[in-house]
This record gives sequence, C-alpha cells and structure tokens, in this order.
Amino acid sequence: MKIAVIGKGNIGSGLEQALKAAGHAAEAFGRDADLGAAVAAAEAVILATPYGAAAEIARAADFSGKLVIDLSNPVSADFSGLAVSGDSSAAEEIAKLMPGATVAKAFNTIFAQHYASGLKIGGAPIQTFVAADDEGARATVKALAESLGLEPVDAGPLKNARYLEAMGFLNIQFGYMLGLGLDIAPRWQAA
Ligand SMILES: NC(=O)c1ccc[n+]([C@@H]2O[C@H](COP(=O)([O-])OP(=O)(O)OC[C@H]3O[C@@H](n4cnc5c(N)ncnc54)[C@H](OP(=O)(O)O)[C@@H]3O)[C@@H](O)[C@H]2O)c1
Repeated sequence: MKIAVIGKGNIGSGLEQALKAAGHAAEAFGRDADLGAAVAAAEAVILATPYGAAAEIARAADFSGKLVIDLSNPVSADFSGLAVSGDSSAAEEIAKLMPGATVAKAFNTIFAQHYASGLKIGGAPIQTFVAADDEGARATVKALAESLGLEPVDAGPLKNARYLEAMGFLNIQFGYMLGLGLDIAPRWQAA
C-alpha cells in the first residue's frame, strides 16, 4: 500500500521502517515537506504528529477521498489528562477538519519503541484497536495492522476513539508514572 506518514518523530520514523519492512511503499514527511504532493500520491495517510498540529496539516493538503489514520493521544500540555475527551475525541475532531476523508483510529496504544523491536511482547503480537465509521476502512486498517505483525481488534465506530484515547492515556500512566515501563501494551482477552 502507498502510505504517507506525516511526522518524522518517534512514531513516524518507527512506523515508516516497520511499514517498509512489511513491503509497503511508505514514506515519512516532516515539516519541510510538500504535504500537498505527499497526500495526493498516497492511498492512505497516517498522522504521526501531535494532535495540536492537525488543523495546520488539514489546511496544507487535500485529504478528500483519502483514508486517514489518526494515532494521537491528545494529552494536555502538563500530561494531567486529555485535552479532548467526553463527548468527542481527537479522531472525531480530525474528521471534522477533513470532511471528505475517511478517518480511522488505530495504533494509539502502542509505544514507539515497539516498532523497532518487532511489535511483540512475550512472543505474542501486540494488539491494536481499530475504530472507523466505514466498515471497509476498518477492514483496510486491520489488514494493514496485520501486515505489520500486529493483532487487530475491531473497535467499531469512530466514536469509540473517545475510549481508545482514554486507554492510550492510561497506557502512558502505566508506562511513565506507575512504574511498568514502556515494554507494555493493552490486550483485550477473549476465550
Ligand atoms: N511516542 C509514543 O510512544 C506514542 C505512542 C502512541 C501514540 N503516540 C502519538 O503519536 C504522535 C507523535 O508522537 P511522537 O512521540 O512521535 O512525537 P515526536 O517524536 O515529537 O514527533 C512528532 C513529529 O511531528 C512533527 N510535526 C509537528 N507538527 C507538525 C506539522 N505541523 N507538520 C508536520 N510535522 C509536524 C514534528 O516535527 P518537528 O520535530 O519539526 O517538531 C515531529 O517530527 C502523537 O500524537 C502522540 O500522541 C505516540
């Protein structure tokens, strides 16, 4: 799949490498890039920037008709909570900023370091929770996740990003504040 990753930080560069290793035509783009051309040429776009950059990015390219995957955890500046929560989510706000795009939420509960270390914990694939209103988009993102070696979990409509972002925040709490470290990821158990 031809994928533009916007953002070349911890997540953007880690994802770019993992996507390339899985055989995708992926490229990560930084601030200096021509986002208009990058988005136009891509089948899917992964936003690997802080949520606060979304409005500027939405203005920099035409996202209509594109599958846009948001992986942000919109933590507040002092890390005390989420800057968007309750009756919305970063993903839903991004969908409003990119009205012609199909927005999906995924990958937000995976710490960046896992992309370089095989996306497994204790030999088992890490899960990623995929939410989108469009069933076809959910299927595409789940297949993309699977191609990276992840175990995708269908998380239903985009509205459920509200709870996935809360889960991402809890994951940050466990990893950084509550002493579990970064070699963790949430897993939904099923018999
Ligand atoms: N790190 C994790 O473990 C983790 C886990 C799950 C989800 N996330 C989410 O992933 C996203 C990225 O996190 P990160 O840890 O990779 O952050 P990071 O290392 O700080 O990287 C952010 C990247 O976004 C770029 N950027 C910022 N504003 C931009 C703009 N307007 N246009 C283009 N590029 C822009 C930055 O460029 P400059 O360097 O020029 O500022 C930088 O390359 C965040 O939304 C975060 O919540 C992170």
